[in-house]
Amino acid sequence: MAADAYNLENIPGVGPTTAEKLREAGYESVEKIAQASTTELYETAEIGEATARKMIKWCTSQVSPDSSASAEAPVTIQEDNPSMTARRMDIEDIPGVGPAIAEKLRDAGYLTVESIATTLPSALAEAAEIGETTAKKMIKWCRDQADIGGFKTGTDVFEQRLKVKKLKTLVPEVDELLGGGFETQAITEMYGEFGSGKSQIVHQMAVNVQLPEELGGLGGSVIYVDTENTFRPERIEQMVKGLEVEDADPKEFLKNIHVARAQTSDHQMLLIETSRELAKELKDAGKPVKLVIVDSLTSLFRSEYAGRGTLAERQQKLNRHMHDIFKLCDEYNAIGLVTNQVQSNPAVFFGDPTKPIGGNIVGHTATFRVYLRKSKGGKRIFKLVDSPNLPEGEATFLVEEGGLRSC
Ligand SMILES: Nc1ncnc2c1ncn2[C@@H]1O[C@H](COP(=O)(O)OP(=O)(O)O)[C@@H](O)[C@H]1O
Ligand SMILES: [Mg+2]
Repeated sequence: MAADAYNLENIPGVGPTTAEKLREAGYESVEKIAQASTTELYETAEIGEATARKMIKWCTSQVSPDSSASAEAPVTIQEDNPSMTARRMDIEDIPGVGPAIAEKLRDAGYLTVESIATTLPSALAEAAEIGETTAKKMIKWCRDQADIGGFKTGTDVFEQRLKVKKLKTLVPEVDELLGGGFETQAITEMYGEFGSGKSQIVHQMAVNVQLPEELGGLGGSVIYVDTENTFRPERIEQMVKGLEVEDADPKEFLKNIHVARAQTSDHQMLLIETSRELAKELKDAGKPVKLVIVDSLTSLFRSEYAGRGTLAERQQKLNRHMHDIFKLCDEYNAIGLVTNQVQSNPAVFFGDPTKPIGGNIVGHTATFRVYLRKSKGGKRIFKLVDSPNLPEGEATFLVEEGGLRSC
């Protein structure tokens, strides 16, 4: 169904007056609204921020984005995951939360029970204008529901760790540095300047993950959120050929990469939130998702929140986004791979020159952090900066037509 067939008046809560304002502001279709940013929409159409957010969410669910990782149906929860209830809960399900508090919570960026489960009582109290004791109770309830923050025995954790798999870059020096490859049940953040090789690595991983385990892959498929329009099927083709694996058909590899182009940071978040549906289908089809890519994680957040006094909001949203990516990776024993473009700081003589200008907006939510930079003779340096279980270190690699190679 063409999204243009929708009248603005079909959007829940939009009467003739709002529809008129929307049209005047240039939003003449459901599709246009689906691509708007919340701020843009509520400022131009003179509606509340929460209303704008709901409107965008509804419109996004109506249009079919340019990929199968679409935001079509409401999210369903895996039945085989006992820690989740049968349906995803709304924040209105939380005891004591009526429409007014729910609105305040949404305005502050708390859209899900999980996001409340992982916040601090003081932050929640301020956002919802409630007492801290109430906030604490609310957080506890959400944690119980989402099964977050409870204790597990060392044995449980150990058993979960046994399931961790490694995905090889197939550059031996890099794989050794990573202790065998990128880990599942974890998010690796790769940061570096423009042209440092971040997108090349994610393309290569989207190929390698499809290989069988004996060749360094995980025999799985890929969910790929592209925010800068830099996904290139031609590159995938070249890299598949570069594998020199007999019978490797580039077309088959492309079929298992599910790409969605994110238009705004809200859209980006929604694509991950709603990709559980796709993940379930892929599992049922025998091609479980084993790699979740967001390239770039931060570009839309940076541009939309540039120069605004809303850094706390940006941070909170990014944290929630990372949490959603992590949950997906945890549930499917998949790898999270996100990129973050930074400018290195040449003015730093003392201290750490790898600290990006403007600080690190991803914070401490990634499990592994890799700093990439260009060196002489087309060499690239892959530096493991932060890891819970591996020593820091560096390895070098080259980007060639056939993909990543040893120097
Ligand atoms: N087909 C290719 N053959 C060789 N090198 C390539 C090819 N495509 C891209 N590259 C290299 O990758 C670089 C771009 O890296 P990229 O991963 O896109 O950077 P970013 O870190 O900004 O995502 C190019 O400057 C080029 O050196
Ligand atoms: Mg890139």
